[in-house]
Amino acid sequence: MQIRVVTGHPWEAAADLLVVPVIGEVAFAGELDELDRRTGGELRALAAFGELGGKRYATALAAPGDVPARRLLAISAGAADGFGREVAVRMGSSVMRRLVKRDVHTVAVWLAPVAEGLGGDAAVAAETITRGLVEGGFEPKAIYHEDTDAAPPALDELVLVTSPDAATAVAAGADRGRIMGEGANMARRLANRSANDVTPAVLADEARAIAEEHGLWIDVIDEGRAADLGMNLFLAVGRGSANKPRMIVLRNRGEGERDALGRHLGLIGKGVCFDSGGISIKPADRMEEMKMDKTGACTVIAAIATAKRLAPDMPLLAVAPAVENMPGGNATKPGDIVKALNGTWVDIINTDAEGRLILADAMTYAERLGATHLVDVATLTGAVGRAIGYMVTGAFATPDPWWDQVAAAADRAGERYWRIPLLRDYLADLDSWYGDIVNSSSAEASLVKSGLFLEKFRTVPWAHLDIGGTAYYRKNMPFAPRGANGVTHATLVELAVAGAG
Ligand code: BES
Ligand code: ZN
Ligand code: MN
Repeated sequence: MQIRVVTGHPWEAAADLLVVPVIGEVAFAGELDELDRRTGGELRALAAFGELGGKRYATALAAPGDVPARRLLAISAGAADGFGREVAVRMGSSVMRRLVKRDVHTVAVWLAPVAEGLGGDAAVAAETITRGLVEGGFEPKAIYHEDTDAAPPALDELVLVTSPDAATAVAAGADRGRIMGEGANMARRLANRSANDVTPAVLADEARAIAEEHGLWIDVIDEGRAADLGMNLFLAVGRGSANKPRMIVLRNRGEGERDALGRHLGLIGKGVCFDSGGISIKPADRMEEMKMDKTGACTVIAAIATAKRLAPDMPLLAVAPAVENMPGGNATKPGDIVKALNGTWVDIINTDAEGRLILADAMTYAERLGATHLVDVATLTGAVGRAIGYMVTGAFATPDPWWDQVAAAADRAGERYWRIPLLRDYLADLDSWYGDIVNSSSAEASLVKSGLFLEKFRTVPWAHLDIGGTAYYRKNMPFAPRGANGVTHATLVELAVAGAG
């Protein structure tokens, strides 16, 4: 897809489709009034018909009249006071989803309404809309069916219509948005692939290909080396499967090198290629979703590649423990006592609380490799979705200044988080009779305790993003198909590139 920035009015852009963003109540004044006039009143007629009613992501096609586009597509952002980067991205995605099976090769977007809604920032408007258009082009059916017509059309050209003073910033913003969107789609594609396809070894191969393409250092630690190092929690989860674990380590620049903020940021991603629960086996209902339990790993692998594209010289580390959690003759059993890489004896009460086990060793290892700040991403609990739903990611962080940095990155990324408290009152529930700590206890405050468990395995500023609710949609949305959605990728990239010189 070529991106072309043109300066001028929306009615001057020649394309198959002209996108007309409507934020809040539609008001026919200024350029919108003139655009309507040139369509012969088509937009006003749509509004009178009730089509531009302000329902978020609702779209309506209009005939072009004298405008050179073949069709106009009005898309509503919903109420103006709820408008922000997240909605802008999703407007872009909704446009692409709307174009499935349509004969469209070139799309022009009138940026001014979006820029105005974002406080006059045309560069961010270009970035969010472009990122959304790229993300909206993702279709999981295309993973195993190359010739599917379920996918939105691949665009030849995106035309961004802006004002002359903003043209340079818009071009830069659009490039950044495209890179962000492509990175999110890389994560989604990996995460959506099935467990008979993406085993830990295959995920490591994919990571290697990505590392080679982007010039990242990679180390893949197999079972033997993991045993020598003492990554016994990581190995304990993988024992039941014939598909052996891999600890995937990616890095830009040298070991422990600091970025411009004095950090060596380590991104950790849960890579459970299938979570059957192990001996504490899950019920059959929706167990197939657990092929998506590797989403955190896929996200950090994509995020380090995206960060490398945006900030080639910036130090960054990613650690993705990849395993299959399966029952089997060799599987870990409830009550097994296992020594973590950091020396903690863990009493594995429930083999289905496996994410925290592999993350614990990965966090220790990241610190050994010089990480000064950690963020982990994991489909860690079902509880987070039950507690706060599927539209906002649960976050834990300590100390507060590190949370502030993560939250600021989230704002730039247009992603929502809700902070869950690390209530020390519940630490006693983690006491183990035989070991130092249990991996699972009573259901009371189980979400809080998942965070408290992980916290035991960090000594540096750390944040934990529980995407158990948000990682994938269970049904089609206006802006995304069912399946992995790339959540947290943009936040991780924003957090990382803040450290570029
Ligand atoms: N991968 C699951 C969490 C999950 C479940 C994410 C459903 C998304 C949808 C995780 O490994 C798990 O099984 N967690 C248990 C923890 C419990 C045993 C302490 C859970 O949430 O029930
Ligand atoms: Zn899991
Ligand atoms: Mn589990």
